[in-house]
Amino acid sequence: MTDTLDPAALTDEPLREHIAAELLAARARTAALTDCVDEQDLTAQHSPLMSPLVWDLAHIGNQEELWLLRNVGGRDPMHPEIDPLYDAFEHPRAERPSLPLLPPAEARAYAHEVRGRVLDLLAASPLGGAPLLDGGFAFGMIAQHEQQHDETMLITHQLRQGPAALFAPPPPAHQELLPAEVLVPAGPFTMGTDTEPWALDNERPAHQVDLPAFWLDTTPVSNGAYQQFIADGGYQHQQLWSEAGWAHRQQAGLTAPLFWHQEGGQWLRRRFGTLEPVPAEEPVLHVSWYEAEAYARWAGRRLPTEAEWEKAARHDPATGRSRRYPWGDQPPTTARANLGQRHLQPAPVGSYPEGESPCGARQLMGDVWEWTASDFRPYPGFEPWPYKEYSQVFFGPEYKVLRGGCFAVAPVACRGTFRNWDYPIRRQIFAGFRTARDAEAR
Ligand code: AVJ
Ligand code: FE
Repeated sequence: MTDTLDPAALTDEPLREHIAAELLAARARTAALTDCVDEQDLTAQHSPLMSPLVWDLAHIGNQEELWLLRNVGGRDPMHPEIDPLYDAFEHPRAERPSLPLLPPAEARAYAHEVRGRVLDLLAASPLGGAPLLDGGFAFGMIAQHEQQHDETMLITHQLRQGPAALFAPPPPAHQELLPAEVLVPAGPFTMGTDTEPWALDNERPAHQVDLPAFWLDTTPVSNGAYQQFIADGGYQHQQLWSEAGWAHRQQAGLTAPLFWHQEGGQWLRRRFGTLEPVPAEEPVLHVSWYEAEAYARWAGRRLPTEAEWEKAARHDPATGRSRRYPWGDQPPTTARANLGQRHLQPAPVGSYPEGESPCGARQLMGDVWEWTASDFRPYPGFEPWPYKEYSQVFFGPEYKVLRGGCFAVAPVACRGTFRNWDYPIRRQIFAGFRTARDAEAR
């Protein structure tokens, strides 16, 4: 795993090296995700929710060509005829297998050719003097983009039928008696950022948000706790669900998290091609926002808002400032968070004491994406940058915000301000949740 330094603290040469290392790390991961399966596996569609892996591969190269070679470098398109195939807005995922996509060898060769030219450009390019170049932004955006698609490809692997193709050691065991919830006192904090050089447009600008006091779960909700919700009839009691949530629960026939089934009274799950007992101490994964909402109501609680999540993760009451990460401003390490696909699952709840936030919450970074109560909306003063299809076209009530990253997120694509979003029915993503309550309520 590459250390995510603060690009703002780097001068030209170290910044160039940092960018090169991040691009290299992303490509190594892309190769690991695509070299472990055969041609037919790469071109097949494993789920209508996902692209064939070979689409992601060439799309990674195409975005890199577009932003770095054409927009930064001023070069002509290499293969203009393929651009529409890899424009995510031209063709929905379900359609992509029927397109005349580059076959695997050609997709690899294209991404490799682009990368060679990008490294030459990086060696010659100033890293400042233009908005796309300041702090190496466009290069950082592209490293993050590749890592985001690597996470997408990992989701495809999880949906794929057949024997395991990916392997990783489990995270270390961890058992510790922690308070169930932590208090976040009332008061203002700084949400979002103006200074994080590789922050994407939706994380900006920094702004003050004043919140009443609230209690937040110390850790994400565990499989064991979620099993109690199921055993208590959580999926049967309509009053626990919102109207839209219940309608979806009925229509989709939800009875448990995706990839779970029961055998002889025991819960089993399929994880990257392996069937195994559901570990009670792990954060629950593969639940929709609607299921998270119903669980929270069952527990007499609610989902935290996005602002509450960020305050718990970043606000340092000692200094009044917001940190880059829950533990401080230093980069993630293996002792602070489960990030970067070192493991193919989350770590037991309560893990990573060195990653604790000032309010005492654990595992806010890494392990599982956390559903929040909030719709995906622009911050006051938002400006689309550098293209409105990254965030702006998704703002609105149909998407819910997820925070904190998961085991499949690379450090370069994760920080206290990072915002992810998806439809409230989605379950294939590596998402769990934690719950909250108003401090005044009891
Ligand atoms: C931020 C994860 C919702 O995968 O749709 C990738 C990231 N944007 N290519 C997505 C993204 C363009 C995006 N998410
Ligand atoms: Fe993309």
